[in-house]
Amino acid sequence: MTLWSGRVGAELAPEVWEFLKADDAELLPYDVQGTLLHAERLHAAGILDDAELAEVRETLAGLDTVDPAAEDVHSFIEAELGEVGRKIHAGRSRNDQVAVAFRLYVADACADADAALAAFARTILERAAEDAETPMPGYTHLQRAQPVTLGHHLLAWSEMLERDRVRFAFAAAQAAPSPLGAGALAGSTLPLPPPQQAMRNSLDAVADRDFALDYLYAAAVLFTHLSRIAEELVLWTTAEFGFARLPEDAATGSSMMPQKLNPDVAELARGKAGTAIGRLTGLLATIKGLPLAYDRDLQEDKPPVFAARRDVTGALGALRVLVSGLEFDRDRLAHAASDPLLLATDAAEALVREGVPFRDAHEQVAASVRAGTFEPPEPGQRLPDVGAAVAAAQERWS
Ligand code: ARG
Repeated sequence: MTLWSGRVGAELAPEVWEFLKADDAELLPYDVQGTLLHAERLHAAGILDDAELAEVRETLAGLDTVDPAAEDVHSFIEAELGEVGRKIHAGRSRNDQVAVAFRLYVADACADADAALAAFARTILERAAEDAETPMPGYTHLQRAQPVTLGHHLLAWSEMLERDRVRFAFAAAQAAPSPLGAGALAGSTLPLPPPQQAMRNSLDAVADRDFALDYLYAAAVLFTHLSRIAEELVLWTTAEFGFARLPEDAATGSSMMPQKLNPDVAELARGKAGTAIGRLTGLLATIKGLPLAYDRDLQEDKPPVFAARRDVTGALGALRVLVSGLEFDRDRLAHAASDPLLLATDAAEALVREGVPFRDAHEQVAASVRAGTFEPPEPGQRLPDVGAAVAAAQERWS
């Protein structure tokens, strides 16, 4: 039986029912939480008595799996509540109900992302502390450019993740306001108390999915970062670079070639960046042009967010294991950084300190490089204190 069987006599055709069903079982704990908040409002308004509220609490606490035959998690919960379920929908609609549950879900997914980001960043920083002073070449255009240290390079990774953290916190803040009370689109005549952080406009409350876009954007940018980190891991662990060796608990072998150790974790993280970007553009396209307030198109908002949550924690967790077990080849890194030509810019700057205009200094040094007579200058201090920078970053992630 449908929630609207009083209005529509005929049973839905099975094909229609199957098509309309929502893939939303993951919302269950959040819809339970939202339903409880609503039950408390009904109780405050005298629509549910003490015993009914207690019964709602007890039934909700016992729900852990959604019946796959249900149209969606909302109708499932109402049916499970039995007789008191016939009262629970007073003053609400599935339109505000789903928005409430989905906001709670997104806030939780942001908290997950934050924890996984912090664990990964701390691992990166431990490695950066060990190798704060280990020389390695820095690159532009993937050509050796100037010497840096491994610690300095790893700190660049944690900087990206720090900005990701801010983006997930922003998405969580966007998800915080409550659509409870918006009803289908225009509120209710019942004297229900407003929820905490009630949204100001009932049409916006049921139509808005910006918080989901913000989450998917945060995930897409995170994956863009992870794909860059992953690409460096792929390069560094090739025989050609030879900067690091993959740990065996985060590398795969080949089904045919017995000697192989493959960076599948890094590759899959890099590949999932494409999927993450697709989820964001997909939901943007779904929402584009939808008239206010609710439209069933919005049911398409949840699967990409559910999948993004799994990928965010999955990729961060696996990459953390990979990075924590990487064996850096310090000799090879130092050797790669020891080419005197990497100090050509320093040589030009030494001339600048003597008063030579930079363009002239650049030409003079370039001429000596071409003639094979380049002499590297005394090493100067180019980078900030990497050990101190690592300690400061560790403090921010603590
Ligand atoms: N399953 C729906 C969704 O995810 C719930 C809301 C349905 N509302 C409606 N008026 N049909 O959006």
